[in-house]
Amino acid sequence: MPDRRHILLVDDEDSFRMHLARLFMRKGYDVTDVRTGEEALKAVSEDYFDVVLLDIVLPDIDGVEVLRRIRSENPNLQVIMMTGNATVQNAIASMKLGAYDYLTKPFDLEELSILIERACEISALRREHQLMRRELDRHLQFTEFIARDDKTLAVLKLVDKVAPTDSTVLITGETGTGKELIARAIHEKSPRRGKPWIVINCSAIPEALLESEMFGYEKGAFTGAIKDKSGLIEMANTGTLFLDEVGDLPPSLQIKLLRVLETGEYRPVGSTRTLRANVRIIAATNRDLRRLMREGKFREDLYYRLNVIHIHVPPLRERPKDIPVLVDYFMKKTCARVGKCVRKIEPKALQRLYHYHWPGNVRELENVIERAIILATGDTISIADLPLDLWQYQEQAVSVDENDKSLAAVEKEHILRILRETGGNKAQAARILGITKKTLYAKLRKYGMFAPEESG
Ligand SMILES: Nc1ncnc2c1ncn2[C@@H]1O[C@H](COP(=O)(O)OP(=O)(O)OP(=O)(O)O)[C@@H](O)[C@H]1O
Ligand SMILES: [Mg+2]
Repeated sequence: MPDRRHILLVDDEDSFRMHLARLFMRKGYDVTDVRTGEEALKAVSEDYFDVVLLDIVLPDIDGVEVLRRIRSENPNLQVIMMTGNATVQNAIASMKLGAYDYLTKPFDLEELSILIERACEISALRREHQLMRRELDRHLQFTEFIARDDKTLAVLKLVDKVAPTDSTVLITGETGTGKELIARAIHEKSPRRGKPWIVINCSAIPEALLESEMFGYEKGAFTGAIKDKSGLIEMANTGTLFLDEVGDLPPSLQIKLLRVLETGEYRPVGSTRTLRANVRIIAATNRDLRRLMREGKFREDLYYRLNVIHIHVPPLRERPKDIPVLVDYFMKKTCARVGKCVRKIEPKALQRLYHYHWPGNVRELENVIERAIILATGDTISIADLPLDLWQYQEQAVSVDENDKSLAAVEKEHILRILRETGGNKAQAARILGITKKTLYAKLRKYGMFAPEESG
């Protein structure tokens, strides 16, 4: 059903204004009528209108000035000007300020009806256009989850499967792996898309505030609660609530969240009313919830409630095939943003990215690319544009067993130490070790340490 058109009539001549109001109400419009410019400005700031029919001569503010203010606040609102003493200047001024049209009293009511109808159509079209724009912007803001490796493609398959349902999802993975992006993808692919997407970061908000942020509070619940405030759960109504860093949720709130998951009910702080939540809950954490559970820091019942569907986002080092596509994606993205045209990356530099262990995962990769693009001279990222840690050998990735006293273990440890000392320079390391580079590579491979064949 198309919504009713709403007209605002502004004229201080009572009988004339009433007459018009009745006429348009009979034609099926909603009509609000006011006498002064101030009243008109107040009306448009408080209500939605399609068209304003505005007299140029008003008792308080000049009609042309009212038009100017309306247009600056509501550029989509169509305004038709009326005047008894038409002067060309008034007409020109109004049209310049964006009036839809201009009528000279006395005017033909049929002509006015047609004008109003057309202005309403324009107003509706503009509104529709604006809605579409907003929808589009929302889409553009939401980053696509880039995937090429089988491991991540499997994650996306799971996303497609769980998205249409309302089940609770627990997303785990190291920092920077893309957990939030996955959560958002589930929302965008679910029937709740277009509805609220609300994020609560459980570790960023102090415990004392978190409860009232989540559940809202009632007036008088504590000092400073001067009126009721709805919580994020209520704001997420009909949409999705993303509980980030859920492992940091304090115990007092864990039980309240459990109740929401079990019964859909909760109570604002200081309230005796029970409210119902219509939200889909997605939670994420980079902490080991099982361990927190064993340590008594995370409720077991809550864990099982959250863990209905579990999606694990693997660390970047376990899905190296994603690296080249991510590099390409971040290069394009950063270039567009910083306005610098760096299109290529040296094979050697890409290889270095490919074999690095990425403790900060995709977020770190994004930062490395951004930095490299800023540093790059010309249109190619070279190995010198990469940060130094990437040059150094992957100490964390390769560990040496302290108790292993075999010759091999000692050799491995020694090679690692020399590599560290040379800053990962294998030619130099080989010279110090008194072996050829080829032998060094063979040994690195033997000990499970990354060893790309390189030409320099
Ligand atoms: N597959 C991907 N495609 C494109 N961008 C990605 C991808 N994965 C991660 N990113 C980007 O990396 C950054 C980190 O991702 P996100 O915030 O989703 O990670 P997270 O797992 O929630 O991290 P944390 O545990 O630190 O909160 C974001 O800028 C995100 O857009
Ligand atoms: Mg996150």
